Amino acid sequence: MRKRVFSGIQPTGTLHVGNYFGAVRNWAAMQDEYDCVIGIVDYHAITIDIDPDELRSASIAMALDLMACGIDPERTILIVQSDVPTHTELSWILSSVTSYGDLTRMTQFKDKSAKQEFVSAGLFTYPVLQAADILLYRAHGVPIGEDQVQHLELSRRIARRFNSRFGEYFPEPEPVVGKGARIMSLADPSIKMSKSAGEQHYVGVMEDEASIRKKIRSAVTDTGLEAGAEMSPGVENLFEILELSAEMLGDTSVATELRSEHEQGSLMYSALKDAVFERLMEILRPIQKRRAELEAAGNVVEILRDGARRAQAIADETIADVRARVGLGTG
Ligand code: TYM
Repeated sequence: MRKRVFSGIQPTGTLHVGNYFGAVRNWAAMQDEYDCVIGIVDYHAITIDIDPDELRSASIAMALDLMACGIDPERTILIVQSDVPTHTELSWILSSVTSYGDLTRMTQFKDKSAKQEFVSAGLFTYPVLQAADILLYRAHGVPIGEDQVQHLELSRRIARRFNSRFGEYFPEPEPVVGKGARIMSLADPSIKMSKSAGEQHYVGVMEDEASIRKKIRSAVTDTGLEAGAEMSPGVENLFEILELSAEMLGDTSVATELRSEHEQGSLMYSALKDAVFERLMEILRPIQKRRAELEAAGNVVEILRDGARRAQAIADETIADVRARVGLGTG
């Protein structure tokens, strides 16, 4: 039997190249080897204030973005999370084997709650729902960027505590963290690239070329031109994006050349930025073209409904087993 993989993404905001290199391209690459379930996590999105119409259209737009990036809904089960409401039932059950103390230590909760005037209980229990997403499909692997590793560690603890209280059932999900797991903001390389930090901090996968060029040209570097100098975080980040793109395109010679120029102290950052822009656009242009075609096809909602049907079949099995083990209902 093939191993199963689950991962998720929030529908709100723009899909950026951090999401792409850190997670989405890996999801696409794993489809042949694993049974993949990918969730657009709208239940998670409502833990902060969001307009209902905006949420629904963002979920559908994200599905198009993901398919354009290579997620094939034939091979991968692609869902909008709340179309499989069993996620929430399992989440409630798992909250009883989740340590309150563990939840208080989640750094994303601390960061996010500091930015909210109203802090919902949902924001606090967010990682329990994340564990439910994964465990509902009894997933073995979870391909994620570095910022999700702490949540995954908690999911593992939750699985262990469930298993020790109710008998061995859930596999302990393993994080799958590859290269590109922490892409930094171009405008402030001390923080990760994210949708919430603001326009200038991310490069959108579907962003237009002129705007991407401008953002890359104005990326923060350093004063440069000193042989053997340590790379500043901004320059390192540009090299990382360049190398990831170049590897995907199958030709890393420009990256190697520029790296040796950097070592010799002769690298002009404008040349590095031009190379980053060119290679990145070679990756993004076909994705953007595909996005337009997929949107024109007009069948994304049907695709998501089909995904939900397939996901629900797995979810039904899991929840029946869980209810029996926990002793819920009348049987
Ligand atoms: P989200 O929507 O913030 O991000 C989706 C994926 O993109 C990765 N990522 C990055 N990788 C590299 N560099 C960056 N700057 C960067 N920013 C984001 C994230 O690590 C993530 O893998 N809580 C999750 C969604 C979720 C989930 C799950 C994930 C819900 N349930 C179950 C895995 C399994 C989130 O908010 O991801």
